[in-house]
Amino acid sequence: MGHLTVRGNELFIGEEPVVELARKYGTPVYVYNLKRVEDNYLRMADALRKAGFKEWEIHYAMKANNNVHVLETIRELGGKIDATSPGEVKLAWEVGFGDGDIIFTGTSLSNGDLEFLSGTEILVNFDSLSSIRRFRGEPFRKVGLRVNTGVGIGRVEKTTTGGSEIGSLPVKFGIPLNRVDEAFDLIEEKDYTLSCLHHHVGSDWTGPKVERYFPALRNLLDVAARAEERLGYRIETIDLGGGYGVPHSEDEPEFPLYDFFSRVKEHLDERGFGRAKVIVEPGTYLVSDAGILVVQVNTVEEKNGRIFVGVDAGLNVFNSPALYNYYHEVVVCNRVAAEETVTATVVGNICESGDIFAVDRPLPKVEEGDYLAILNAGAYGYVMANNYNLRPKGREVVVPFPEGP
Ligand SMILES: Cc1ncc(COP(=O)(O)O)c(C=O)c1O
Repeated sequence: MGHLTVRGNELFIGEEPVVELARKYGTPVYVYNLKRVEDNYLRMADALRKAGFKEWEIHYAMKANNNVHVLETIRELGGKIDATSPGEVKLAWEVGFGDGDIIFTGTSLSNGDLEFLSGTEILVNFDSLSSIRRFRGEPFRKVGLRVNTGVGIGRVEKTTTGGSEIGSLPVKFGIPLNRVDEAFDLIEEKDYTLSCLHHHVGSDWTGPKVERYFPALRNLLDVAARAEERLGYRIETIDLGGGYGVPHSEDEPEFPLYDFFSRVKEHLDERGFGRAKVIVEPGTYLVSDAGILVVQVNTVEEKNGRIFVGVDAGLNVFNSPALYNYYHEVVVCNRVAAEETVTATVVGNICESGDIFAVDRPLPKVEEGDYLAILNAGAYGYVMANNYNLRPKGREVVVPFPEGP
């Protein structure tokens, strides 16, 4: 993964030996490499620039990881924020982002949430008619709409956010295509200005799934064209959402950023939106592979023909394998490769059957006391951690170490 290297059979993140970090800070510990966040950001910015958009902005979806050093890194690079709650907005303010840097897309918003937002100048993408109705913004306020374009794309069902149903799950997000006219009516009634059309199809998609994005985009641009006709003015911004995926294993491809954005640009040009500002809202792409979770092995034991490796963290610290069923590579930090390997099932310390990080994985022979790194843990990791079973949430460390005051 570039920023993760093996030196003398030990795992390093950036220039730091992971085992030393684990000993110094204790486990479980998330380690984020800010240099990798920067590289991911710059790669995306470069692809957007090369694709030739007239104007573009990267709004980091801070729900993925709200560590202040990560947020500061994004701000220093010129990035902006996608927030989903008043709490996220307040943290973004603390880090130095202004209202004009923040776009807000939330769901099931309370009157309190809406009142908070009406007191700011943040652009809100409304995802329900109810929230537009209950919002008390001044006339002429610029607003956006989150449209459910009828197409969902995610790594798994639980990370798919478009369409009416994904497998057995009904989709709650966005205003469906057959109700956008009602949203236009409300916006007119309240004298708001519709300035942004947004969709977010789902999370962490790449490979063959990329192709499925374009029918969704065409539907969004149809809505934008209809809005312009209906409201009689130009839509300033097309918000493409996030979801750009990262490989979870060596056989998965990198996200084809340049090809993807070039094709988006062609679509915009064809439909007369070449002049629009384009917003992207990546979370996963910027931070997922920049973070690892380091845990310590406390138990190695055969049960019913399987070797279980028990560690000092569970689904309360990192929920992605249990919640999303995502595959995460596991590395034995102090013995990355070994002649003797085992097939091990890595489990946590929480009293839940689903508290499993990896099933039947070939690993170098693991011993009690070893340190394991769970890769691709930088997104939707610590932000979801809790104290279930009254177990600690772990802590976060960034490398390179930030300079002191
Ligand atoms: C509205 C919106 N934008 C962006 C994102 C970021 O998605 P990802 O982390 O997959 O890039 C999400 C994730 O849930 C989202 O809901």
